[in-house]
Amino acid sequence: MMIMTNKQSTAPQRFLTGITTTGTPHLGNYVGSIRPSVAASTGADAESFYFLADYHALIKCDEPARIQQSTLEIAASWLAAGLDPERVTFYRQSDIPEIPELTWLLTCVTAKGVLNRAHAYKASVDKNTAAGNDPDADVSAGLFMYPVLMGADILMFKAHQVPVGRDQIQHIEMARDMAQRFNHLYGEHFVLPQALIEESVALLPGLDGRKMSKSYDNTIPLFTPREQLKKLIAGIVTDSRAPGEPKQAEGSALFQIYQAFASDDETAALRKSFDEGIGWGDAKQLLFERIDREVAPMRTHYQALLQDPANLEAILLAGAAKARELALPFMRELRQAVGLRPLSSRQVPTTQQKSAKTVLPVFKQYREADGKFHFKLLDTQGRLLLQSLGFDAPRDAAQAVKLLQTQGAAALAALQVRLEPVPVGTSQALASALQQLAETGSETGR
Ligand code: TRP
Repeated sequence: MMIMTNKQSTAPQRFLTGITTTGTPHLGNYVGSIRPSVAASTGADAESFYFLADYHALIKCDEPARIQQSTLEIAASWLAAGLDPERVTFYRQSDIPEIPELTWLLTCVTAKGVLNRAHAYKASVDKNTAAGNDPDADVSAGLFMYPVLMGADILMFKAHQVPVGRDQIQHIEMARDMAQRFNHLYGEHFVLPQALIEESVALLPGLDGRKMSKSYDNTIPLFTPREQLKKLIAGIVTDSRAPGEPKQAEGSALFQIYQAFASDDETAALRKSFDEGIGWGDAKQLLFERIDREVAPMRTHYQALLQDPANLEAILLAGAAKARELALPFMRELRQAVGLRPLSSRQVPTTQQKSAKTVLPVFKQYREADGKFHFKLLDTQGRLLLQSLGFDAPRDAAQAVKLLQTQGAAALAALQVRLEPVPVGTSQALASALQQLAETGSETGR
């Protein structure tokens, strides 16, 4: 499992995340997703792709008006919260027809058994089974395919890091598996993504103290009008201690929400007030003012954006155009890779027309689904010359590659037990490929 708590400090990292368009953003979404994502997108070496997952929304929602309204509200919320569509590629999933196209290619390399084990699908099946119903009662094929659509979202844009909640980790792992399987079959096309879980972002409690979530009906909408915000905050559960009695900060929903908005000093001050017996009414007033201080300027911006849906539409279409500049050529490459090719372009490959970069044989190192590290050697036309068995450690695989690169065919005998048998008729090509590499001192491929 890949859980990253920190950004990696290496080359530009590409972040990508999707927001399903079925609801109205609430304070929990803001604290858990919108605020950290907008902050991350301003980092110097960050490349961010944020999109409205409206194809995913269709899986859960059959109310067209709600999908549309939610798309509008979520787009406006992210922009009001400071997302800069010039810096970030901000788009609507359904504006990228290459996404469903890629979904199909991935569907064909995804084991059905893996999808059977996806949490959301399995939960529905378990529920049906417990109720004595048909296991698949009321389960759409869309729900079953949810992870593949999500895999296409991620793999299309070669995302390295996918900021998500814990409930989505399994989906990212499935996307990795799809990428690995595809790369194994058709060559290295996809980047293997990692889930990025922000451990520091607290789960915000809702009005009733449970996690703030639409499914518990305990949310505070992010841009609810001021008066309404005040009313909702007044409804947060507290205990029955009277003013003057010391209150417990730990376990108080009110305190936790405050903490998510306040500075360390402000939080320490409220903790002191709790010890000193602040009345719940006064504490709620403090919370209201603190949230409103952060939200009010954004709320004004949000209202202005909602007034002008044509402008929002134009922003999303511009984002889609940017995204498609990548998706279109990549999809063309993938179609070519799997054999969906124009018949007129059938070509006998010649090294002559290839770029300098591809005229050398290349070692590829990769990890298989069983966790073992492998390498293979491909000739200039991508044909397999040599295939290793699995190594437990990537270092060992790399060492074997190094040996072959420096010593050439002479190293084959020593490595024999770590290699699959060389296919009949390949030894000559293998020997000359190794020689070519030794002469040029080439690097390994990804
Ligand atoms: N499934 C995600 C959720 O419910 C939304 C989503 C769709 C997504 N596609 C994605 C998230 C791709 C990250 C990457 O939260």
